[in-house]
Amino acid sequence: MNNILEIILDKVNKNIVNLRDFPHITKNGKWTTTKDGYWTGGFWVGLLWLCYKITKDKKYKELAYSWAERLKGRRFDKTFDLGFLFYPSFVLGYKFTGDENLGRISLDAAKTLSTLVHKKSKFVYCVTYLNGEKVGRTIIDVMMNLPLLWWAFEETGNGIYYDIAYTHSIRTIEEFIRGSYSTIHVIDFDLDTGNIIRKITTQGYRDESCWSRGQAWAIYGFALAYKTAKDKIFLKTAKKLASYFIEHLPEDYVPYWDFNDPEKSVKDSSAAAIASSGLLTLSNLSRQERFKEIAMKILNSLSSKQYLAKGDGDGILKHGCFHKPAGLGVDECLIWGDYYFVEALMKIMGELE
Ligand code: GLY
Repeated sequence: MNNILEIILDKVNKNIVNLRDFPHITKNGKWTTTKDGYWTGGFWVGLLWLCYKITKDKKYKELAYSWAERLKGRRFDKTFDLGFLFYPSFVLGYKFTGDENLGRISLDAAKTLSTLVHKKSKFVYCVTYLNGEKVGRTIIDVMMNLPLLWWAFEETGNGIYYDIAYTHSIRTIEEFIRGSYSTIHVIDFDLDTGNIIRKITTQGYRDESCWSRGQAWAIYGFALAYKTAKDKIFLKTAKKLASYFIEHLPEDYVPYWDFNDPEKSVKDSSAAAIASSGLLTLSNLSRQERFKEIAMKILNSLSSKQYLAKGDGDGILKHGCFHKPAGLGVDECLIWGDYYFVEALMKIMGELE
């Protein structure tokens, strides 16, 4: 483990020196960056917080603060990605430091997210355009933005946060999860009636297929929904989603970007990292050791030289896939893959729950 941590810290230290903007995905091994943090800036801040937790070195805390400062203004953005942006950055920072200012900013972001619920469909959503018309859009990934609302409920006792997260989770079971417990990626709906217009899998192989990262977001999201709401339907759902994921893993336990892609040539190490962290949480909540055993197998594989980018390139985990149909970040490092990999390792080390 010490050897892996050395590789991780070495990478983060190099990135601290070189980065001027938020790392997003690599291109030929070098970070491409975003000025405003797009949907991924929170993971870089979160990685700095994790390094602080591992090393207790104040350098990482100061850097996490200064990068978080650059994200702060995004807390009023009308996007369902607010959980990705503010949980690993501000909520995690608040948990690690107890700094109430970080807590207040997290609550601002949670308040904004709580305004993004559609009254009729009951989904947390964004507005997008379909054939020139405004429509509502919600995606499976939202399940891993809800932790910002679950946290806000636990922090304030305000049931509005609970109700929104609970109802979105139930609606996700109803509309996103197939009989096989594979998941759909995107739902577009009519803004006036809430009626569903179409179900598609934009980042996957085809609309009927199962995009492995979407499945991973769902596993982790439902495990965390159960952690706060304690409704058994969420535990059952997380377990079934996890079983589907596990049954479709190849020999090295790192999934292809889409479970139904017949070519089986492109992996997504970030789906493996997210799932491993989610499976560790699910193992605790369900008291089922088998989920931890699989998480360990995934992490062993990700820690091997096949996936761990020792020396080569800017990121920590090789062989991620951001958006295969658009040709973006294919067989590259992805900042959220790095974050969840380190998070999962820290759970194994007993540094995180
Ligand atoms: N949330 C966007 C993605 O997972 O690619």
